[in-house]
Amino acid sequence: MINEPEEPEFWESAFTEKQEMWGFEPAKSAVLTKDLFVQKSVCHVLIPGIGYGRNAKIFKDSGITVTGIEISKTAIEIARKHYGTDMPIHHGSVTDMPFDNNRYDGIFCYALIHLLDSSEREKLIRDCYNQLSENGYMVFTVISKEAHTYGQGKFISEDRYEMFGGVKMFFYDRESIHAAFDQAGLFEITEVTENYPFFLIKCRKGG
Ligand SMILES: C[S@@+](CC[C@H](N)C(=O)[O-])C[C@H]1O[C@@H](n2cnc3c(N)ncnc32)[C@H](O)[C@@H]1O
Repeated sequence: MINEPEEPEFWESAFTEKQEMWGFEPAKSAVLTKDLFVQKSVCHVLIPGIGYGRNAKIFKDSGITVTGIEISKTAIEIARKHYGTDMPIHHGSVTDMPFDNNRYDGIFCYALIHLLDSSEREKLIRDCYNQLSENGYMVFTVISKEAHTYGQGKFISEDRYEMFGGVKMFFYDRESIHAAFDQAGLFEITEVTENYPFFLIKCRKGG
């Protein structure tokens, strides 16, 4: 079966037009996750939806090897320009994971899963968990229902709305996080304020 991601051209034109649209500083969630990964001696991290790599650098600077997945070719080109070519980035949709047979001891997925529909979200969690090595950690950041944009735009389905000229977003609360992540080794949910209120979701495999 071929999975067609919902908005490939949305992201391609966003990066073509706005280039490094979130600057070069890592998100707060990336800093917190880097601290966890360093503490747990994580060596190889997968970043689905890596964008142009602003959140990858902080891991690389800590000696962690990073592999990315990104749907926008332009974002990948920008990442290559700023962060070099030694970081493999698979070009494609996370809905087509896995892209390699590697096991990763860390996965960091920032502001991506809430863009997917219900079956794609389930598949992403399953695919990430499958690529996690035993005792590996995966961290997701997701938008919260506390965001002022919750309930705005066009209603798609429960807690999912279309806004910003074509992005569909699923807004999480603790209940929906437990429902989605309990089976994937969920052990901590914290709140973190980025450009919107987010949840930082930490899971561990096994052990
Ligand atoms: C909200 S942005 C976050 C980007 C990045 N993590 C950052 O903050 O620097 C979502 C990213 O996921 C990418 N993306 C969206 N849908 C995707 C999909 N189905 N598969 C892979 N990447 C996707 C977008 O192109 C974009 O780079």
